[in-house]
Amino acid sequence: MTKEVTFTIDGQPVSVPSDKTIFQACEMVGVEVPCFCYHPKLSVAGNCRMCLVDVKGSPKPVASCAMPVQEGLEVITTSEKVTKARKGVLEFLLINHPLDCPVCDQGGECDLQDITMAYGPSTSRFKENKRAVPNKPFGPLIKTEMNRCIHCMRCVRFANEIGGVPELGGLHRGEHTEIATTLDAMVTSEVSGNMIDICPVGALTAKPYAFTERPWELSHAHSIDLSDAVGSNIRVDYRGAQVMRIIPRENEALNECWLSDKARFCVDGLKRQRLDRPYVKKNGKVQSVSLDKAYATVAKLLKQFAADEIAFVAGDLVDLETLQAAKTFAQKMAINAVECRQEDTYLPNHALGDLLFNTHLENIQHADACLIVGANPRYDASMLNLKIRKQVVKGNMPVGLVGEPADLTYPYEHLGENINVLWDILSGQHPYSAILKAAKKPMVILGEDMLKAPNGAEIYGVVRGICEKFGCIQDQWNGMNVLWKDASRVGALALDFYMPHLSLRESLEKGKIKCLYLLGADDLDLSPYPDVKVIYQGHHGDRNAPRADVILPSPAFTEKEGTYINMEGRVQKAARAVVPLEGVKEDWRIFMDLAQHLDLTLPFDSLTTLQDLLHAENSHIQSEWVEADMSNVGAYAHSKEALSWPIKTAVRNFYFTNAICRSSETMAKCTQAYYDDEIKRAGVNA
Ligand code: SF4
Ligand code: SF4
Ligand code: FES
Repeated sequence: MTKEVTFTIDGQPVSVPSDKTIFQACEMVGVEVPCFCYHPKLSVAGNCRMCLVDVKGSPKPVASCAMPVQEGLEVITTSEKVTKARKGVLEFLLINHPLDCPVCDQGGECDLQDITMAYGPSTSRFKENKRAVPNKPFGPLIKTEMNRCIHCMRCVRFANEIGGVPELGGLHRGEHTEIATTLDAMVTSEVSGNMIDICPVGALTAKPYAFTERPWELSHAHSIDLSDAVGSNIRVDYRGAQVMRIIPRENEALNECWLSDKARFCVDGLKRQRLDRPYVKKNGKVQSVSLDKAYATVAKLLKQFAADEIAFVAGDLVDLETLQAAKTFAQKMAINAVECRQEDTYLPNHALGDLLFNTHLENIQHADACLIVGANPRYDASMLNLKIRKQVVKGNMPVGLVGEPADLTYPYEHLGENINVLWDILSGQHPYSAILKAAKKPMVILGEDMLKAPNGAEIYGVVRGICEKFGCIQDQWNGMNVLWKDASRVGALALDFYMPHLSLRESLEKGKIKCLYLLGADDLDLSPYPDVKVIYQGHHGDRNAPRADVILPSPAFTEKEGTYINMEGRVQKAARAVVPLEGVKEDWRIFMDLAQHLDLTLPFDSLTTLQDLLHAENSHIQSEWVEADMSNVGAYAHSKEALSWPIKTAVRNFYFTNAICRSSETMAKCTQAYYDDEIKRAGVNA
């Protein structure tokens, strides 16, 4: 345990752990010290000198962010010497700072503005011309205005330490210092938007958001990111009926204070390609109709087929409430086929605990070995990758990867691309077996794609075997993890929104399913089934809406309240930010209206009664976590013969993974900038 030291700040005695700095101690006791370069998630740079404080016995003020606390120190933060030093630092910083505030996107949330107001001099003695620094081409997401840079190096440290892309640096020295990338190339990080957040001035701002809004004009709603299965906490900033931007909301257990670029910048996708009215297909042509007419067509279609010829398929952005309403509606119609797996995915034993990211993201800091099987956490779940990277760079966790080699932003041992390596690890013949054996808290991450493989059952079996043999599953530690990619998947599994003994694709191929009710399901390839009737309920005219016979528009996640369960089994609520588009009804209302057209009575008549029903029928879904057990140890079969299969994961464009992203112009620009060559080379239409 870290020992405490006692000293005084502004005459008040304080006791803090000895590993803190004076700056942190001041923060802990609520004494404000201004700073620019210090950031709690980054290493100490000590280069802005804004945090100067007086320490008794020291001839000069000291940089409090770089000075460890010591027993008996006498720290003064308000002396004349400190006040004068702060004024001096700001006067120097402003020598070359442009007078841009009226046209600067940082205005209103700028540290330099705020600190100058509070601690700065009222005039400057410098009359010289200001220096001019050329802007840098950082890519489609970050707008640079390098005249405003104060060289705090937060962006450089973020790229090196958090993002794992050491592409930024400070060129030249003294007043010629410039922040730049090597050879003026783009920043190639999937988390680059965080540099905008941590830049204390308007040197780095969001390019797609440039000159659109002032922060004081925005209202905020607390929501959940749906671009992957992590469930990062986000704040949706909106004005009137328009979502203007998405920024991270701090949650130390999940995304900390970071956010992936996809989650942050797909926001313009909420405005484009929207389904804003009902449509019905007539003579092969889609026509806009009244909602009543659309309901009547849906009712007719549902009556036209036998209950076992209809299936409900959930997409990747669906909330628990919609799933519950759809399931209840299907049950009333005696329809059993409800499915969340748009591609055939093996589900081991149907025990929910077998399918979660059981270690939990915040516990990765305790893991001492990590085996990744058929996954690329950098793009499948960027926030998870940051947690893995953090543990790897501490030197505490050797990582082994079975699958296609990729730049994960940290060193790892590539164990092979053939899945039969897993068998060697299990039998103890592989050198990585010794690493797993020596580890006290090993973890295994199994990519969702591996369960989609033709022999997903065998792969799950051998991975589970490895977990059991090498102590991944113990009393206080569960290192068996499945990495899902879609935000709605675990929620749908928790609601049993799947057919345990049936394959959707097989049912479609055999012609058993003749009518599909899609809930924003755009990853199901319908081209082989031209005769299947399709009802599409969703918010974007993405892949499957054009194929539908009836389209019922519904709100996007920012336009409704919703509950989601992330890959760990964490239950989180997203608040509504803006009202739905005119005439667009919430999903549960659509099912109520449809029930009326079909003379059915549903056991809910409001969002509250629907949520009550959800919890009454699913008592394992608690307010914060879903209760989930793992199946019996050793219940999985695996045979070496089945395990010879080279892992080939599809080229999946990180920026284009759901309907909102695919509608976003910014994500299209990112695709063009970062992926076009790769996609063309692979000959894959992602
Ligand atoms: Fe004004 Fe801050 Fe922008 Fe500088 S960075 S121009 S101080 S708002
Ligand atoms: Fe600091 Fe921003 Fe300049 Fe980077 S660009 S060094 S974060 S002021
Ligand atoms: Fe301490 Fe910058 S915050 S030197």
